[in-house]
Amino acid sequence: MSCVIEINQQPTATMPTPLRNNHAIPSLGFGVYDSPPHTTRASVSHALAAGYRHIDTAQYYENEAQVGLAIRESRIPRDEIFVTTKALDGSGSVDDILCRMRKSVADIDGEEGYVDLFLVHSPSVGKEERKRIWLALERLHDLNLTRAIGVSNYGVKHLEELQTYASPHHFPPAANQIELHPWCQQRPITTYCSSLKIPLLAYCPLVRAQRSTDPILTRIATAHNVSWAQVLVRWALQKGFVPLPKSDTKERIAGNAAVWGWALTEEEMGELDGLDEGAEGAIGPNPVECE
Ligand SMILES: NC(=O)c1ccc[n+]([C@@H]2O[C@H](COP(=O)([O-])OP(=O)(O)OC[C@H]3O[C@@H](n4cnc5c(N)ncnc54)[C@H](OP(=O)(O)O)[C@@H]3O)[C@@H](O)[C@H]2O)c1
Repeated sequence: MSCVIEINQQPTATMPTPLRNNHAIPSLGFGVYDSPPHTTRASVSHALAAGYRHIDTAQYYENEAQVGLAIRESRIPRDEIFVTTKALDGSGSVDDILCRMRKSVADIDGEEGYVDLFLVHSPSVGKEERKRIWLALERLHDLNLTRAIGVSNYGVKHLEELQTYASPHHFPPAANQIELHPWCQQRPITTYCSSLKIPLLAYCPLVRAQRSTDPILTRIATAHNVSWAQVLVRWALQKGFVPLPKSDTKERIAGNAAVWGWALTEEEMGELDGLDEGAEGAIGPNPVECE
């Protein structure tokens, strides 16, 4: 896990965190959920200009092609940008799912391209579908179309189930992406993942702006002369998570990444840690809890 001193020394948004399979993932990502396709291209361009080198999309977001376009237009070498996408649809055969995954890769990076990380989007599709999606991911990896494969929204029981059918060299998965912010700290699954050295990618790190007036959060932000959003990104980084803040607003995109060169104190981290509301603190029904 990243330590505070390393994070402080990093002037850009690209300090790598080791993925479980030795690839490196930039410690700060840029989310594009709910970014309409006609907006995504500009948002990703702003994000790359602001220093993000890690973009998080999904089949479900219907903006993979726009992410790919913005990356190509940036003229930043492909191997300097980390792209994650996810499969939610486990209908049909493993071949059918693989075919949809190949389309995602082509949309993002062209026919000869690859993605860096491909995830099972959610266990909520049920036992059979999540197994088929995983088996398709293993084949995608064998075809060198993704550098790493992992999961999202997986609780302890889903990971234990995965171990029963994953190839030994693909378990533990390369990452688990879950909702993580001070009000939803998901301690059972974060503890389990840490014990297996599975990196945790933090979605909804800004709680979709729903807690922006929290008195503890605003006091800490004022003390550092930063925004509440920067405090939340910083909290996630100092916990060793990889936060994925999303914005379609140019100034916010840059501001949310201006989180280097200062740090929350141990006492402030403790205050934010104390805000955990367990299951109540999640934005909505949490797939980590599903069967
Ligand atoms: N794996 C999963 O199941 C899953 C689920 C949810 C999310 N994710 C990933 O995680 C990413 C982040 O989660 P999220 O998009 O749901 O939520 P989020 O990043 O916590 O919040 C995004 C919202 O906050 C607003 N915002 C951003 N910066 C702000 C600022 N500085 N001041 C005020 N408002 C600000 C944005 O508005 P504007 O855009 O208008 O600026 C947007 O409405 C997603 O984009 C996606 O990539 C994954």
